[in-house]
Amino acid sequence: MTEIESNTPQSNIAQPDAPTQRRLPVVAIDGPAGAGKSTLAAHLARRFGLLNLESGAMYRALALKAIESDIGFEDEAALSALFATTTIELQPQSEGNRVLLDGHDVTRRVRERDVAEGASQVSVHPQVRQWMVAQQRTLGANGGVVMEGRDIGTKVFPNAEVKIFLDAAPEVRGQRRFLQGGPVPPTVTEESVLMALRERDARDRSRAASPLEPAPDAILLDSTGMTFEQVTARSEEIVRQRLALAGL
Ligand code: DC
Repeated sequence: MTEIESNTPQSNIAQPDAPTQRRLPVVAIDGPAGAGKSTLAAHLARRFGLLNLESGAMYRALALKAIESDIGFEDEAALSALFATTTIELQPQSEGNRVLLDGHDVTRRVRERDVAEGASQVSVHPQVRQWMVAQQRTLGANGGVVMEGRDIGTKVFPNAEVKIFLDAAPEVRGQRRFLQGGPVPPTVTEESVLMALRERDARDRSRAASPLEPAPDAILLDSTGMTFEQVTARSEEIVRQRLALAGL
């Protein structure tokens, strides 16, 4: 698992000369697929010296394990039985997370379309979500993280110091995903990418367990007509304001 320096005091005996340790913040970034969360999270992590954790990569890794184990994405009981023998590690890098499934590097594989589709399907199951949330809370227990996903500000870290809900019009998100995808077979068109994205959106927003929705205290940021520089500048401003409010 990601190593995060502990900032827990070792003793509660007053030590006047000991340096005071600052609480480290949690920055939660939620929003639909293709809104630009990963790029923004990586940027904010660099800017504020935090670890960048992509929670979606964990759902993708579990979906990959299901594919490799011949387990259907709808089979909640069989998926839950996998937990005992599954280790998912996120290693923050400058541009994103290296993902290890049971010790094997699956960073590239989990970006493929069948795994993305599987991740959206396995993430509807309450038991899967419960397992993921517990792991994600452990990763961020000492703060000092930017975590991005769908339920970070609502479920994983409801007390996060900073919450941003990043959105954009579906057409814009679909186009970004299509351009991001690199060389694609001729059957994959911008329209088919947009259609798959709308399906994932609908599933993420309508599932009973932790549907994708902004936390009541999240700042909404619609990046539809914004450049990446504008999004990062506004987000940095939000982070500074919220950290100041939290006394950090
Ligand atoms: O962010 P992503 O595209 O890598 O996420 C893949 C899927 O995982 C997405 O369709 C929904 C699910 N997910 C989730 O339900 N909760 C999260 N915190 C992160 C991802």
